[in-house]
Amino acid sequence: MEDAAALESHLREAPIDLYGHFPGGGGHADKQLVVVRGGIGALAKLARNEQEARQCRFEVGVYQVAKALEWGDLVPATVLREVPTATGVVEAGVQILWPAFATAAEAGVTEASVDERDSLRAAIIDALVQNSDRHTGNWGVVAGAKLGLIDHGHTALSRLPGVSGFALMHRDAEISGELHDRLEEFVNGGAEQLDGSKEATPPQSCNERIRCLSVKRSSWRPSYHRSRTRSPRRPPCSMSTS
Ligand SMILES: Nc1ncnc2c1ncn2[C@@H]1O[C@H](COP(=O)(O)OP(=O)(O)OP(=O)(O)O)[C@@H](O)[C@H]1O
Ligand SMILES: [Mg+2]
Repeated sequence: MEDAAALESHLREAPIDLYGHFPGGGGHADKQLVVVRGGIGALAKLARNEQEARQCRFEVGVYQVAKALEWGDLVPATVLREVPTATGVVEAGVQILWPAFATAAEAGVTEASVDERDSLRAAIIDALVQNSDRHTGNWGVVAGAKLGLIDHGHTALSRLPGVSGFALMHRDAEISGELHDRLEEFVNGGAEQLDGSKEATPPQSCNERIRCLSVKRSSWRPSYHRSRTRSPRRPPCSMSTS
């Protein structure tokens, strides 16, 4: 966690030595390649309007959720910061670029080919953040070896149709052992670890998220679920970190 914090402050505060074009278009058309001091290649998704700003906050929010679960290896470290552009300084979501990353579509792989523990962790993350945008361009393989999840601008509140293939694949899975413990810890206190969430996102808001979990929870149930009567419906909590 301390290492992640040091990495994030570097990514947030270190000078940007180079910036340039990043190919693509898509969900977040306004993208830039940036090189952060030290030669760290990163992708900056620019927030030039409210919609783009919201997408950037979701990107950071999903990274924070993965980090709170101690599964930061699955989502690139992502921060909000200002970046230089041809038209001046702009706020952006800046994420580290993985080496030799190929999307599932590019690598020609499916969810079924992913390591079982990784695919279950991806299913849990996608279910928690209600990710409806996990198509084969939004996950892939890092250096030919390791699952990587990208592009979290369209999650919970985006109302995009669609369900994560990972969440679908594991919808009847029992979560047990180490993953069970991690998830329980997250639900019972991990939300407090989310940057900036202490006032806006108490553990109860996290419960609302957990209720949407599409994986079977028969072997996993936080203790306060047992005794509580169903609370009135609350609006979904924001992934915003500001
Ligand atoms: N953290 C990362 N590490 C390595 N490559 C990445 C990373 N994030 C994104 N990419 C590359 O950039 C491409 C576009 O990223 P992303 O899917 O996040 O943006 P998008 O707005 O949906 O754009 P597009 O519609 O072009 O996919 C990905 O297909 C992938 O090749
Ligand atoms: Mg994409």
